[in-house]
Amino acid sequence: VPTVPIEPKFTVLESDPRALDGQATRKTVRIALGAREDAPKLDLLLYLPNRRSGPVPVFMGLNFSGNHAIHPDPAIPLARFAGFRREQQRGSQARRWDVDHIIARGYGLATIHCADIDPDFDDGFENGVHALAPVPTGDERAADAWATIAGWAWGLSRGLDYLETDPAVDATKVAVLGHSRLGKTALWAGAEDPRFAMVISNNSGCGGAALFRRRYGEKISHINNAMPHWFCPNFKQYNERENDCPIDQHMLIALIAPRPVYVASAVEDRWADPKGEFLSARHADPVYRLLGTDGISATTMPEPDAPITGTIGYHVRSGKHDVTEYDWARYLDFADLHFKPDTTSP
Ligand code: GCU
Repeated sequence: VPTVPIEPKFTVLESDPRALDGQATRKTVRIALGAREDAPKLDLLLYLPNRRSGPVPVFMGLNFSGNHAIHPDPAIPLARFAGFRREQQRGSQARRWDVDHIIARGYGLATIHCADIDPDFDDGFENGVHALAPVPTGDERAADAWATIAGWAWGLSRGLDYLETDPAVDATKVAVLGHSRLGKTALWAGAEDPRFAMVISNNSGCGGAALFRRRYGEKISHINNAMPHWFCPNFKQYNERENDCPIDQHMLIALIAPRPVYVASAVEDRWADPKGEFLSARHADPVYRLLGTDGISATTMPEPDAPITGTIGYHVRSGKHDVTEYDWARYLDFADLHFKPDTTSP
């Protein structure tokens, strides 16, 4: 990540205290990473419940298709990098963002389009935030240089920098979450930045919560070949050599300890290896216990739709690779358990 500190600059692009039929306050905050005209800019969309008696806990995650895709609210500014036919994508991902329930339960939601941080293709790391830590001309890219997942995670921390300045947000209670490649990102963001008080991985699979050594579903060679820009060059040497890799992903979960972490799988999401995702949560347990928490109680994988809650939470939901209302209901319960928000009227 950049070795020179970057001072983010925040500008409120728009706000409305009567959004979602008066239930929420919406705003879009532009986060400029540096003073230069061409500095990368992240647009953070924030919904906060109007029914609140003090600063609220917030769920924060990256989105795949632009902020305007997470809810049909016509006032959400269109994403800058969503390409052609952006307008038609309004609300197209709304099914995956249970905004109304999040607000009704007394939580805020913050999201940033992942492409604002780094576009998701192999561009030689010239675009997005990687330009802030460029490789000197003529030099080889370092074998442990940050790639796209690390860039996205770093961007989430810049979003948290803004949340820390917003008096309506309880920045000591921010849960970072993500689905699939953005679930891998949420785990890494949580491991790297201890200010995230809770971490939620939704169907993150290979390079996320799943154990590499099981070689079930997606393997290291698959992910490195299909997405060469996600991980550092060093990782490529473990293609088909999982047992030689000095780490596995239960250690990634353990890096989040003792903060609450929730790993969620889906029965039909075999590419992400639900059992491997459970086992990494399970094998992070000794570290959670060493640090004085209850870790995870289950030693064997639970039945579908039978969530386990402790400091490590886990469920395997019926159905496919997705984020559903069922998943959100579990995350809200998990946050209630650990954050106990005050949802009484002001
Ligand atoms: C691909 C990739 C996965 C990733 C998923 C996603 O399936 O192989 O590793 O999690 O895309 O992000 O949707």
